[in-house]
Amino acid sequence: MAQAITTSPRTLATLRCTSPSLVMRSIAPIAGGILCGRRALRPMAATNMSAPYRPQTVLITGATGGFGQAFARQFAALGCNLILTSRRTDELKKLAGTLSVPLHQAIVDVTKRDEIEKFVATLPADFQGVDCLINNAGGALGLEPAFESNLDDWLTMIHANVTGLVTLTHALLPRMVQAKRGHIINIGSVAGNYAYPNGHVYCAVKAFVGHFSAALRADLIAHNVRVTNIEPGLAETPFSLNRFKGDAERAAKVYEHANPLTADDIAEAVVWAATRPARVNINRIEVMPTTQATGPLAVYRG
Ligand SMILES: NC(=O)c1ccc[n+]([C@@H]2O[C@H](COP(=O)([O-])OP(=O)(O)OC[C@H]3O[C@@H](n4cnc5c(N)ncnc54)[C@H](OP(=O)(O)O)[C@@H]3O)[C@@H](O)[C@H]2O)c1
Repeated sequence: MAQAITTSPRTLATLRCTSPSLVMRSIAPIAGGILCGRRALRPMAATNMSAPYRPQTVLITGATGGFGQAFARQFAALGCNLILTSRRTDELKKLAGTLSVPLHQAIVDVTKRDEIEKFVATLPADFQGVDCLINNAGGALGLEPAFESNLDDWLTMIHANVTGLVTLTHALLPRMVQAKRGHIINIGSVAGNYAYPNGHVYCAVKAFVGHFSAALRADLIAHNVRVTNIEPGLAETPFSLNRFKGDAERAAKVYEHANPLTADDIAEAVVWAATRPARVNINRIEVMPTTQATGPLAVYRG
């Protein structure tokens, strides 16, 4: 892990005391008439089963990406403390500079077990009570037929989307179980539900995310820890630019005239799932743009 920077809750307490309206204005669009006044900035007790719920400390991996930034902005608007991770220091700093909540940022490559373990072991005291983990880091590499694919791309997809997700989950889950409070939100994909041509390993890793999420639920029903798999369809973010390794023209074609989802569309689904009353577990949310649907099964007639 290269570095970690923390904006202390105490620093932000000054901001809240001197300018409560600033904070309240920022949560108003999401909280609506439910959260109002200074008391609303405190998280709800896990035992208050009928009250609206808000996580206290949200950890977002891949916070520099399209979805990650939207998640950070929307949870900050709710007044949650944030832990943001990615591999890019400058991008992370830039994002952190736009958010007025207690915040801890760390450079973590989720494919590296030692970096994840060190990151979790060295979380500052004020940020140790992670009660919402958003496993978002990941993505696709390449879009060629399986027999023409690069093995390094396959292994990188497995390490980022699967190994990273399970390693961080494994590190934080015992704390949530002990606290009897937590929510793991995994960012899967429609690719995990519907195999598509040239999707091979990306489809497979997202199918893993879906089934792992469902299996986790089975172990957690007695522990007040929730699990949700968010399954976005076509959404315009740097996802395709990264998939095509910087080929901007090819990436732009993916979204051309398609009216794709935005990162904020997905962030709204995530925030909605994370703010249900404590008794409610949203198992999965599949979201597609109106212009996208599943196709017919393919038949090759040689
Ligand atoms: N956009 C879509 O259409 C779509 C649809 C379904 C699912 N998804 C999923 O949504 C998630 C976010 O994607 P996005 O659309 O926001 O794409 P994105 O803009 O490319 O963001 C990907 C994020 O993951 C981080 N990341 C990638 N590999 C990492 C690693 N080894 N260690 C740490 N961080 C890593 C990147 O951070 P750094 O590069 O800064 O380290 C970046 O913040 C991914 O899991 C993706 O599979 C996207």
